[in-house]
Amino acid sequence: MSLYSLIRPILFRLPPESAHEFALKSLGLGLAGSFVRDAVSRRYQTEPFGKLNRFGLEFRNPIGLAAGFDKNGSYTRELAALGFGFIEVGTVTNEPQPGNPKPRIFRLAEDRALINRLGFNNVGAAHVAETLRRARPDCVLGVNIGKSRSVPVEAAIPDYLASFDAVYDVADYIAINVSSPNTPGLRELQRHKLLEELLSALQERNDELRLRNSLPRTKPLLLKIAPDLSEAEVDDIVSVALRTNVAGIIATNTTIAQDGLRTSPEKVKQCGEGGLSGAPLGAKSNRVISLAYRTSGGKLPIIGVGGVFNAQDAWEKICAGASLVQLYTGFIYVGPTVAKRINEGLAGILEREGFQSLDDAIGCRS
Ligand SMILES: Cc1cc2nc3c(=O)[nH]c(=O)nc-3n(C[C@H](O)[C@H](O)[C@H](O)COP(=O)(O)O)c2cc1C
Repeated sequence: MSLYSLIRPILFRLPPESAHEFALKSLGLGLAGSFVRDAVSRRYQTEPFGKLNRFGLEFRNPIGLAAGFDKNGSYTRELAALGFGFIEVGTVTNEPQPGNPKPRIFRLAEDRALINRLGFNNVGAAHVAETLRRARPDCVLGVNIGKSRSVPVEAAIPDYLASFDAVYDVADYIAINVSSPNTPGLRELQRHKLLEELLSALQERNDELRLRNSLPRTKPLLLKIAPDLSEAEVDDIVSVALRTNVAGIIATNTTIAQDGLRTSPEKVKQCGEGGLSGAPLGAKSNRVISLAYRTSGGKLPIIGVGGVFNAQDAWEKICAGASLVQLYTGFIYVGPTVAKRINEGLAGILEREGFQSLDDAIGCRS
């Protein structure tokens, strides 16, 4: 029995957002030192996958922490010490904003799921960049940017550009979030014309900043998409991504669908609107990963995210076409050793399935 399985019932008595803040602060204060010691083993961080090269960056392992967990980038070092291969901070917006009124995170324990409608609460892109300049994690660092709530969709481009400028120097990659269900109108940016305009503007700025800073190459831009897209919409997004030299796709964000849950409809209704994450999202996210992998002919690296709790879940994403995997809800239910456990389990699965390397397995069932 793990230490977390003893502590989890106590944490789960707190409102979800308070439990989350308490856990992050404990990590920051070193109170969670025993978890860190438990979770960290230098050996497994460099082995058994070797260095994974993705869009010009080197990853020590394929398991990352998804956006939303550390919105303001205040705990990246502590989180990296838990054995993640990469941490994605944010979503940050150009304007600091408080998000939606509380309560705005709900646990559906029977489904190993969460519903949230946080609405991009964050201290603003410039402030987050400052924090990250002072303390960077010792792994790949992504920064996820989104639209400020006060800005209408038609004026989204300058708003994204301002966030892009603010985080450019600190981020190893920048994720463009056009898929959160909690900012009105945001997902409209997944439509062909708007998406192409947004990504082209960001890549133009990317190139300007490369020249200005005499860098050998532009920053990898990744696009985070929703699970609730039709096959034609995924096709369309992939074609825009390829045309605008996007480095990869993050599939997927939370879903607005609430079908097939074990939790009673009354309880689900009480939560109100929001995005559903965790176990019920797994298959939906795998579908989008597989579609994006096939449509791009394996040319676009995919970060698979949605419903990953254990090594088998991560393996399914890799088989569907993901070359990296992220999780959020799995951390809440499994605890701080989740990355270590998945990495160790994944190494065992690779060996059992007879693959020489992780790269050989990507898309093997797509
Ligand atoms: C409470 C919460 C907050 C989130 N905030 C963000 C966010 O700010 N930006 C973002 O791109 N995704 C956000 N997500 C989505 C996750 O990054 C991830 O895509 C999704 O939860 C599916 O993964 P999971 O099933 O492992 O949680 C959030 C998810 C949760 C549960």
